[in-house]
Amino acid sequence: MLANKHILLIIGGGIAAFKSLDLIRRLRERGAQVTPVLTRAGEEFVTPLSVSALAGNKVYRELFDLGDEAEMGHIQLSRVADLVVVAPATADLMAKMAQGLANDLASTLLLATDTPVMIAPAMNVRMWDHAATQRNLKTLQGDGIKVVGPNKGDMACGEHGPGRMAEPMEIVAAIEAQFADGPLQGKRILVTSGPTHEPIDPVRYIANRSSGAQGAAIGQALAAQGAEVIFVTGPADVPPPAGVKVVAVQTAQQMLEAVQDTLPVDAGVFAAAVADWRVEGASDKKLKKSKDGLPVLEFAENPDILKTVSRMETGRPPLVIGFAAETNDVLAHATAKRERKGCDWILANDVSPETGIMGGSENAVTLITAQGAEDWPRMSKDAVATALATRIAQALGET
Ligand code: CTP
Repeated sequence: MLANKHILLIIGGGIAAFKSLDLIRRLRERGAQVTPVLTRAGEEFVTPLSVSALAGNKVYRELFDLGDEAEMGHIQLSRVADLVVVAPATADLMAKMAQGLANDLASTLLLATDTPVMIAPAMNVRMWDHAATQRNLKTLQGDGIKVVGPNKGDMACGEHGPGRMAEPMEIVAAIEAQFADGPLQGKRILVTSGPTHEPIDPVRYIANRSSGAQGAAIGQALAAQGAEVIFVTGPADVPPPAGVKVVAVQTAQQMLEAVQDTLPVDAGVFAAAVADWRVEGASDKKLKKSKDGLPVLEFAENPDILKTVSRMETGRPPLVIGFAAETNDVLAHATAKRERKGCDWILANDVSPETGIMGGSENAVTLITAQGAEDWPRMSKDAVATALATRIAQALGET
């Protein structure tokens, strides 16, 4: 699948750099050509000799290497690649990328490239959770940089949490998805996912139990079939899929704006569990207990994102797909919902507690279209996502 793909692999300075040696092997096994770049900090963890021996290629290290400047300028180096992969991407490298700094070979290549870039972050959990890194992450995702991982687990520094670099095979899967030459190649698809958080005051909010698992699986399946996926997500429990453009939002109103900024698209899948109401006049100061009684919250209705997009007079996506999570009379409610919202398809599911669907790994859906209802067998959320992506590919192929 990666035959003749040219990957520029930037290895940053972190203990996870040793995993990048395995990544090089796995990429080459699949036919990719790997040109390695080792940062100065990276050299503290793996030697240039082992990197170049495994890559079967010269390892690039210095920005001002006269020989190389003459033979192949640094701009050229990143542009001849089909994909630039940064693994491990340290907090420092991410900060440089987010700021557009170019003070060594790796950062200069990243700023000078017009090739897609994928990063596999790896760092101490506190560095990952730090507001600055999270801010940089959002900036990079907004710039269209693909992010793989990090995973949760025990870290070399003895702490536990998110920050471990994704495993080499996970990175390989994300790289393969990037090059997937599937039936959705050239199609731009919007996916909304996760819950929304509606503030009561700066520290409290109203939310729901959506984990974002089904939306993430759909984003992943569409990307695996070659689509360009714009993934607009509220604060979900599960990480966003690799290989998609992530737009992170908090509230329903922000989600609507992000969706409108994303149009035009070939299809929209509205899997988010959007809060129906927000608190009218949320306080900008923390509400305090008072002798005068309990606070009274007034609600205002949130925009219906699916309905707004379905009913657009100009620029409506050719295929609009909604979800209907119901606890009773699933078919009747979902059929009525399709009419009311004006979308093309509805995926209906029974989320009553005894089904174990909400928060679980399986789903049992009914696809409702203008032609009628079709029950799908109970299967994993990943399998539902793949089946849906295949149906979308068929439908878009016919238009
Ligand atoms: N949806 C949306 N914006 C909203 C509410 C819902 O885009 N403000 C979308 C969801 O993403 C989903 C579909 O509408 O695709 C149905 O969501 P659901 O919560 O089941 O429906 P409701 O509109 O809340 O209808 P009801 O209250 O009758 O269940």
